[in-house]
Amino acid sequence: MEIIILPTAAEVGQVAARKIAQIITRKPAAVIGLATGSSPLAIYAELAAKVQAGDLDASAVRAFALDEYVGIPEEHPQSYASVIAHDVVEPLGMNPDLVQVPDGRASDIEAACTAYDDAIRTAGGVDIQILGIGANGHIGFNEPTSSFASRTRIKTLAPQTRADNARFFDSPDDVPTHCVTQGLGTIMDARQLVLVAQGSNKADAIAAAVEGPVTSMCPGSILQFHQHATIVVDEAAAAGLRLADYYKYTYENKPVWQRF
Ligand code: F6R
Repeated sequence: MEIIILPTAAEVGQVAARKIAQIITRKPAAVIGLATGSSPLAIYAELAAKVQAGDLDASAVRAFALDEYVGIPEEHPQSYASVIAHDVVEPLGMNPDLVQVPDGRASDIEAACTAYDDAIRTAGGVDIQILGIGANGHIGFNEPTSSFASRTRIKTLAPQTRADNARFFDSPDDVPTHCVTQGLGTIMDARQLVLVAQGSNKADAIAAAVEGPVTSMCPGSILQFHQHATIVVDEAAAAGLRLADYYKYTYENKPVWQRF
């Protein structure tokens, strides 16, 4: 795992966006895994700025979202289908036909989840998966005790996750109780992972995921088993890391050919 600690949240977005832009530049039809929530918004804004400046072309990029709520219509402004369209597809000039979000409204959810994993496989697998992390250590909506082998499936949102996401809804009761999420096994199949976190409310989750034992009690800790995972955090989210000085030293001395 590479741990990059940066002074500000803005720099987290800039550095993670550079990594993703480098992949798209090398492979214009790259397959990108998209996260929603607040954490990746700066990445999307940075990528959109590169597109607008003519420095990046995302029109051939394929994308698969991590998760979707169950129980709200697609046109709801907080459905992840709406959020991805508004925050990612439009500003990055992506082709909506190349972007898929799990179907939280399917009459046969299980079949839709299997079809989603099949579609990722058929697309050649995910080149880089963008991740945030919940305060309880979840990635995607794989809540604590999710199986490390899990594939895309329906999950019950933890009360803490519903409370954390209430800020996006008119009332806490409006937050759906269920979601469809890529499984931890699905996420781990991506060739690269980039997880971003900002702010002190993520410090415990980052410390547990990076330096704690690998345990389903902190689903993000599975990243310790990935061969190419990059964690980009600001100082506040890094506050619980015991080896912070070592990670900074490593980043400062990164070989030129490895930089992005
Ligand atoms: C959303 C997702 C979640 C979020 C996590 C952090 O697609 O997969 O794991 O990344 O809940 O959310 P924010 O970024 O809003 O703090």
